[in-house]
Amino acid sequence: MKTSNSRLPKYFKLSVEERQAALASALSIEVDKLDLLMDNEKALPLSTADKMIENVVGTFQLPFGIATNFTVNGSDVLIPMAVEEPSVVAAASNMARIARDSGGFTTSYNGSIMIGQMHVINIDDMESAQLNIEGAKKELMEKANSFDKTLVALGGGVKDIQLRHLALGTGEKVLVIHLHVNVLDAMGANAVNTMAERLTPDIEKLTGGTVLLRILSNLADQRLTTAKVAIPFDHLDTGDFNGSEVAKRMVLANEIALADPYRAATHNKGIMNGIDPVLIATGNDWRAIEAGAHAFAAKDGQYRALTKWTIQDETLHGELTMPMAVGIIGGATKTHPTARLSLEIMNIQSAADLAQLVVAVGLAQNMGAIRALATEGIQRGHMTLHARNIASQIGRNPEEIDWLEAQMIEHNDVRMDAAKEFLNNRK
Ligand code: MEV
Repeated sequence: MKTSNSRLPKYFKLSVEERQAALASALSIEVDKLDLLMDNEKALPLSTADKMIENVVGTFQLPFGIATNFTVNGSDVLIPMAVEEPSVVAAASNMARIARDSGGFTTSYNGSIMIGQMHVINIDDMESAQLNIEGAKKELMEKANSFDKTLVALGGGVKDIQLRHLALGTGEKVLVIHLHVNVLDAMGANAVNTMAERLTPDIEKLTGGTVLLRILSNLADQRLTTAKVAIPFDHLDTGDFNGSEVAKRMVLANEIALADPYRAATHNKGIMNGIDPVLIATGNDWRAIEAGAHAFAAKDGQYRALTKWTIQDETLHGELTMPMAVGIIGGATKTHPTARLSLEIMNIQSAADLAQLVVAVGLAQNMGAIRALATEGIQRGHMTLHARNIASQIGRNPEEIDWLEAQMIEHNDVRMDAAKEFLNNRK
């Protein structure tokens, strides 16, 4: 499936069935290809769920929406998002609409290197332990690679081994061995953990110590993805502020989140508002990405905003770089039917493709949040959405729904009772 045009004007105004039809048409497929979206048992069969985790007694649903308007690296794409929070899909779509007028998002991915850690304790002679590992690096890499021949045949496998030292609060010294493994299109946990576990006897022999922990690091800082966007001031005008003022306020909002960890936590939560729903929709391990994002945000010792926003030549520039350890070939990405459909909707061919789209959505989401926060505040947008929800519940036709929504906003009274009264008093 491939989207020729992600610009679907007034998509939010359609009924669910009309949206499905418009999605199918934008993807040039028959609408029945989307039938699992209408049938929970097809979306995730109980028998599949039963094999995914333990003690299954049912399945759990979330709203599944489509963020429109995205252009990433010159191609249009519709983004599936599974999320319970209102305004997230709308904000991503709105910011993507602004961004597409200046070329959309550009992204890059620096490769699928995951770090497998081995923590070695009880080493009597740290210096010779380290020299022994350095001397045996080539053999260790060959041995680790012999544990996953398929990965190696496809071009992946261990590419380097690096050493670090830790001094614990107890006075104990720890040698940390990092296996740098190219996991290609996998998230990588299985491949990396197997290698780290199976190298244990060799490492213990070379160091004379004991390998205590053998597991991948979620601080996947060798697997970084960057998204950028550039918006000329005149595309940023709001009703109350001109574009140059909006840009300056957004840059200041970002600077505050770089300086203040209390604000940075909320700022980065807003980024994850865009990222997690795409991870969930594609069956990825969002806890792993969350852990990596927050650890990376504290990489210089203070927890900071993950984004950079700057102004150059009357243009606002946004950038987000973060670890993005996503996979498209194992676990739920493979077994969950809706996750497969999500990958197809975005025409994802590799983990690199997915990582870049995810980070573009994170940047769009942050753009929406700080643009609103630094100007009119976020409540107005939330209230508009709330008004729409109420209006759609009691409005009897599209005209009446639009009218009711406008009445609630105009009178600054967004309540079901108020909506009913507006309707009763309408001649
Ligand atoms: C709410 O879910 C997300 C925001 O708080 C993000 C932010 O403050 O930047 C609006």
